[in-house]
Parts: sequence; C-alpha cells; structure tokens
Amino acid sequence: VSGSSGARQDDGPTRRGLVRAAASLAAAAGTVFAGHGQAVADEESGIEPFRGLHQAGITTPAQRHTYAAAFDLTAPGRDTLVAMLRAWTDAAARLCAGEPAQHLAQDAAVRAGDSGEALGPSPSRLTVTFGFGAGLFVKDGTDRYGLAAHRPPALVDLPEFEGDELIQEMTGGDISLQACADDALVAFHAVRQLARLARGTAELRWAQSGFRPGAGDGRHPRNLMGFIDGTGNPPVDDPAAMARFVWVGDEGPEWMRGGSYVVFRRIRVALEHWDGMPLDFQEQAFGRRKHSGAPLGGEHELDPPDLTARDTDGEPVIPESAHIRLAAAAINDGARILRRGYSYNDGVNLVTERWEPWRRRLEYDAGLFFVCYQRDPRSGFIRIFERLAKFDMLNQFVTHTGGGLFACPAGLARSEFIGQRLLES
Ligand code: HEM
Repeated sequence: VSGSSGARQDDGPTRRGLVRAAASLAAAAGTVFAGHGQAVADEESGIEPFRGLHQAGITTPAQRHTYAAAFDLTAPGRDTLVAMLRAWTDAAARLCAGEPAQHLAQDAAVRAGDSGEALGPSPSRLTVTFGFGAGLFVKDGTDRYGLAAHRPPALVDLPEFEGDELIQEMTGGDISLQACADDALVAFHAVRQLARLARGTAELRWAQSGFRPGAGDGRHPRNLMGFIDGTGNPPVDDPAAMARFVWVGDEGPEWMRGGSYVVFRRIRVALEHWDGMPLDFQEQAFGRRKHSGAPLGGEHELDPPDLTARDTDGEPVIPESAHIRLAAAAINDGARILRRGYSYNDGVNLVTERWEPWRRRLEYDAGLFFVCYQRDPRSGFIRIFERLAKFDMLNQFVTHTGGGLFACPAGLARSEFIGQRLLES
C-alpha cells in the first residue's frame, strides 16, 4: 500500500460545504452575519481532509498543538460500540470541516449539543486520528465484542522496558484519539466533544496535551531539552519510505492495510538536572550540536551522522551511548519510525521530604509526549527502545510514566465509519 496525503480520494472541503458550515454556525448562534460565510469559505488552508487512503494526522505536517486521549470501553455489546464509532466518525468529520460536532442544542430540553467554545476559530488544520488498543479485542481474558480472532499479531502487549515507571492510570486504554490542530483550543474541543458523545459507552482513561514551537533557525522545532528534534525521521513526502516504514502492507489484516501503529509515551524530563549540565555533556548525550543540530563531527543539521568516525585519541566522535547512535537504523536492523512528538508542560509538582535541607521544593512536570507511527511496533519502537532503555545517556534525565500502543486503521472511504471494515469482517 502506498500513496501520500496528496493522493487522498477524498470528497474534500468543498466551498459549498464550507458555506454550509458557516451557515450552520450562524444559525446555531442565532445570528445572521453577512460576509462571515465568505471569510470561512476562503480559508481553505485551514482544513485537512478527514477521509482518504490513510487517516490524517500521521504524515500530515505536524500542527502546533495536540490533545490525545485513551478510553476504556464500557459498551455492553457490539451494537452500542458501533453506534458510538458512527457518532464519533460523523462528529470528527464535522469538526475537521470547521463545523460544530452537533448543533449547539440538539434537543435543548434534554442536553446541550456541542459545548461551543471552538465556535469562531478556524478549523486550524484539525486532524483526529483513531486507534484501537488490545482491550478492544480481549479484555481480562474476555472477548467482549467477538473480535478476539481479529486482533492483529502486531498489536502486541508492550513489554516492560528497563527503567519503566508507568502509572497504570496513565497507561493503556481500549481506544485512542489524537487531535492535532494549530490552535490548542480546537484540539481540546474535538476530544471533549467525542468524550461527551461516548458517555455510557466509553470512559476517559488518560489524556495528554502537548505543543510544538515553530521550526525557528533549524529545519525542525526544538524540544524542551533545547535540541532540534525530528531530523532523523524518514521523509513523509516520500511515498516509498512511508510504505516501507509507516503504512501497514499486505502482511496486515485488510482493515489495517494503509493504517499504522502508534506508540505514545509520556516521558517526564528532569529539566532542573538537565539545565545544570554543561553544554558539552548535553551534546555528547544526544550526539548532536545544540545550536546547529549537526551530528558531532558534522557541520549542518542534515549532514548524515558518521558512526564510524574517531577522534585523535581513537575515541568515537559520537559516543557509544549517545542517543542518536543507539537509535540509528544502522545498528537496529534498519528499523525506522516516524516520530511526531510534542513537548508537554503540566505545571509543577510539590515534592516534600522528611530530610530538612530538602524539605519542600517544586519540580516541573514537563517533558516529551513521545508519539511515533510505524508499520509494525515489533520491528519499530520495541526494536529501537529496548536498546535505548538500557544504554541511552539520556536515561538519567528521562522517566517514562505512561502511554500505550494502538492500531490505527486505514483511512476512511466516503460515508464509512471508523472500524467498519473490522466490525463487519
Ligand atoms: C525525552 C525523550 C527523548 C528526547 C528528548 C529525544 C530527542 C531526540 C533528538 C534531539 C534526536 C536527534 C534529532 C532527530 O533525529 O530527531 C533524536 C533522534 C532519535 N530518537 Fe529520540 N528522543 C527521546 C526519546 C526517544 C525514544 C523513546 C525513542 C524510541 C524509539 C527515540 C527514537 C529516536 C530515533 C529513532 C531517532 C533518530 C536517530 C537517527 O537515526 O539519527 N527517541 N531524539
């Protein structure tokens, strides 16, 4: 399976649809505002196609904000589950087109429709990417929805990695949503609407917001450790590379072909300690220069790292335990993943100690909401991270506290709902 976002067989954002969207917003707000519809209709660049060969939000150029969430399913049976997935698909399609999830008050006497806070901002390139966790297929040994036989072999239970400090309440889930948008409110609003529509069928298990700065002076944005992040990714504009590393091919079940597997990891970074380290140490830890993003021994961000280079003392120029050496395809059987992570900043935690000198202090709860897509997690994330978790020089500063693995089905054809091919197989 190949193809790029440019090859979407999508009904796309039609001008009529946009004008209709603006009109429904106006109607919902009880206002008539001439010209507003035209303004929305002209903002074509604010809309990412919802339907297509692949789900949006994977090779889509990363938006500035994300809001991801995982849910535990409580649906008593398959029919309720299907009804929710239909409602989610319909609402997500509307939201990505800049419309409310439902009318503001569908049945005002019963309950409100769309919560309304995103009326006004443009669609902000909103994408909503759906994923299915192992719990959809089998939960506590029970085949709740008659899907156990359809669990793809690649949807493994993630092994426990060296140093994992996963908090159960922030880990796993039966179904995932990742909303990405250039406006944080638009991303949050999308998940909030879908969570509301799922009431009685799925309960929020964990959620995580994240942000990415603009690319600044490099080709890619910087993470909170101050380094340019994303350089070593396979190119999203190369369909052959995406087919090889990101999209599931003939090896997967029909409903997954053209889909991908996502791994989320909430990684707290001990910024206080990192900030106390000398620049030289920081650069050795990553194997790259902080300012330019160049690999050690190179000059420019895009220079290929030379893993064989040695200095005059015979020591490797890129240290043995540098992050980019241990994560390199060259030493991981050619494994490559598409990283699409976001920084997160969840404020501060108060730490109290009995020992007087350390009694009370605040620590940042901030770091990297690591997100990566791949064709098969066994030869992707797991293959690479098993090595990193043991030997990476960064390990002293980073702690994985949550996340999960989800199978993101192929993109949706016209009027298809997410998971339809799985549930009707
Ligand atoms: C807080 C945690 C992490 C930080 C701050 C971080 C940051 C970085 C940076 C700055 C680079 C170099 C630039 C680039 O190629 O993007 C990089 C490369 C890379 N990282 Fe991470 N990373 C983290 C965790 C991980 C994890 C958990 C994995 C899991 C597989 C991973 C996989 C990779 C890969 C595959 C590369 C490209 C290596 C290459 O071929 O050059 N990283 N990371």
